Amino acid sequence: MSVVFQSPPRILAGAGSLAEAGTECASLGKKALVVAGKRSARASGALERLETSLREAGVACVLQAEIASDPTLDVAAAGAAAAREAGAGVIVALGGGSVLDAAKGIAALAAWDRIDGCPRGAALPLVSIPTTAGSGSEVSRVAVFTLPEKQLKLALSGDGLISSVAILDPDLTLTLPPLLTASTGLDALAHAMEAYLSRKAFPQTDLLALSAIRRIGSSLLAAVRNGRDPEARAAMLLGQAEAGLACSNAGAGLVHAMGRPLGAGCGVPHALAIALLLPAVMDFNRPACEERMAEMALGASGGGSRDCVALLRSLLKDSGLPETLSACGVKEAALPRMAEVAAANQSALLNVRAASAGQILKLYQSCL
Ligand SMILES: [Fe+2]
Repeated sequence: MSVVFQSPPRILAGAGSLAEAGTECASLGKKALVVAGKRSARASGALERLETSLREAGVACVLQAEIASDPTLDVAAAGAAAAREAGAGVIVALGGGSVLDAAKGIAALAAWDRIDGCPRGAALPLVSIPTTAGSGSEVSRVAVFTLPEKQLKLALSGDGLISSVAILDPDLTLTLPPLLTASTGLDALAHAMEAYLSRKAFPQTDLLALSAIRRIGSSLLAAVRNGRDPEARAAMLLGQAEAGLACSNAGAGLVHAMGRPLGAGCGVPHALAIALLLPAVMDFNRPACEERMAEMALGASGGGSRDCVALLRSLLKDSGLPETLSACGVKEAALPRMAEVAAANQSALLNVRAASAGQILKLYQSCL
């Protein structure tokens, strides 16, 4: 079977690279719809700097702010209508994974009638600027939407969802609070580890995944403890982009299959759900991938598969995040249905070790 490697978008990386957003956008369109979240991009001053950069490059902009976490397709449709009404030629996303995913939906729906299935056609050009080091959405061909009526998450994947440009400016992550740094960082680590263990992994994704694991593993706690550490923030941002590209190509696994129902059904933020599940699911995976798991434990004493899981447990503990699903408000009665949903999820089918709904239920229970 042949493999297809999705090329990354054009990537600008480095402290202060946000200032180049205007020049990048000017080559894509003369009017931009800027998509941002509820508060942080404005509070940190990043939104103002982005608008200044656009203005100086001669790009007019209209703001579509207040994008909440876990976007729905309705949010994307509303943004697309605003883009059409404004005559926007380019979409600029500034925010965390939810904002970047919503902007992908907006860019697609502004050009097409619908985006269910595997979007391939040309969407409006999209410039993605992450303010968290986690989702990797700015380099991936994946966007996740919540279907509230079904309590499900829909992960869309297609070349039509790839940004034209990704701007990785670690300065934008300096004000990210410690717990968000921890959860989004562990989500990124999960992208890399699941890509490395995926049934669809191939040599190029392996390279990206192992590099991401090294960068994130060596800088996550430093970034949690001192958010103003520029080297740790730069390593995290680069690492999560490598993880996102690896995962976009090789796919995710059981951690993400189990994490999505926790978000859609119980309201647990995506990154926190993934962070919590990661050690237990990797422990479950061990018998199917001793060698690969040991390779991911580089740096741990002994470097065996058990060390890898122990390393994950101590990362979760030291990060200060809640360590149980109960602490996130999840009730035992919700677990059986979530296990059924997770077992049928596409990501579960890519997992290195096959898991039945019964085994998944036990895993959820072990994290309760
Ligand atoms: Fe994730």
